[in-house]
Amino acid sequence: MTKNTDYMAWQVDEQNGEYEGCETLLSTKDLPEGEVLVWVSHSSLNYKDALSASGNKGVTRAFPHTPGIDAAGVVSESATGQPAVGSKVIVTGYDLGMNTPGGFGEYIRVPATWCVPMPEGWDSRTAMIYGTAGLTAGLCVQKLLTMGAKPEQGKVAVTGASGAVGSVAVEILANLGFDVVAISGKADHADALKALGAKEVLGREALSEDKKPMLKPVFANAVDTVGGIPLAELLKQVLPGGSVSICGLVAGVPLNTTVLPFILRGVNLLGVDSVEIPLADKKRVWEKLSGDWKCPNTEASAKDISRSELDSALKAFLKGESSGKIVLDHAKS
Ligand SMILES: NC(=O)c1ccc[n+]([C@@H]2O[C@H](COP(=O)([O-])OP(=O)(O)OC[C@H]3O[C@@H](n4cnc5c(N)ncnc54)[C@H](OP(=O)(O)O)[C@@H]3O)[C@@H](O)[C@H]2O)c1
Repeated sequence: MTKNTDYMAWQVDEQNGEYEGCETLLSTKDLPEGEVLVWVSHSSLNYKDALSASGNKGVTRAFPHTPGIDAAGVVSESATGQPAVGSKVIVTGYDLGMNTPGGFGEYIRVPATWCVPMPEGWDSRTAMIYGTAGLTAGLCVQKLLTMGAKPEQGKVAVTGASGAVGSVAVEILANLGFDVVAISGKADHADALKALGAKEVLGREALSEDKKPMLKPVFANAVDTVGGIPLAELLKQVLPGGSVSICGLVAGVPLNTTVLPFILRGVNLLGVDSVEIPLADKKRVWEKLSGDWKCPNTEASAKDISRSELDSALKAFLKGESSGKIVLDHAKS
């Protein structure tokens, strides 16, 4: 027997063509059907949330809408018994926060197949420090390792290094013993990137457009979170046999490259999706993030915000001004 509960959410609605988010009282009876009702204590901020909150129809078709592609909390109702009522879960990706009300509300209702059990010894806040961004960083690193990436092969570049995905990728790779070259547009962030473990920090001009079809190879491997021209330039600078995991598009969707990096140097371009992959693949990376790939610096530097701070934090994402990990704490006033 389900009971209806009122809860607070940061809901976005359209007013005269502008999209505005505000704190709204909602009821669990208005949530979509699903097997599992989760009482959400924490969410995590992602670029995709900023797109949803700004009315991007490629992310969210209908408003009013509660964004939040990440959520962590405690199961409050479970039609299948698995996950069990009272257990802690992480929900990221699939349709959460896109066209299904997401983690910026205190409750979500989702299919049981979207719920990852909380790794042993973790709590919701810690999981949301990583969030989809941390999961994606982990998947990018995992793809490089699967292709045989090793520290002794040489430098590994990370683009968008100060961002949510980039910063976690920097710390995981550094902790695994790689010489990380962080590529960042934020000159004032160099010390923070070095504190995460980066050996070198380069400005974005290291990957500005160059007409030459190939450049001197510098990086053994790379994680690219930005796409566009920087990715095309990065591919020209990868050593023979190297791999580049790619996940993002903030610098542009088109990728204007030639076949040369691939056929002259055997470079591998590895696509990373954190959203629709099987739950078991997500679970494997969550276990790593809570174990061998733990990022103590990222955890220590994460910033907690309240629902009332979401608007400005999301706008900073859209301007590329966001840095590090931001956690939404529903209990924070
Ligand atoms: N494939 C997936 O499953 C998946 C999952 C999560 C995220 N993503 C994507 O990954 C990307 C990064 O996400 P995020 O959450 O890390 O976002 P983020 O926190 O906003 O980080 C992106 C970083 O990219 C850099 N940047 C921003 N605008 C740029 C531009 N015009 N040119 C070059 N660099 C620019 C900035 O870092 P610097 O100032 O340090 O250069 C910025 O902090 C996004 O495109 C997101 O949609 C994909």
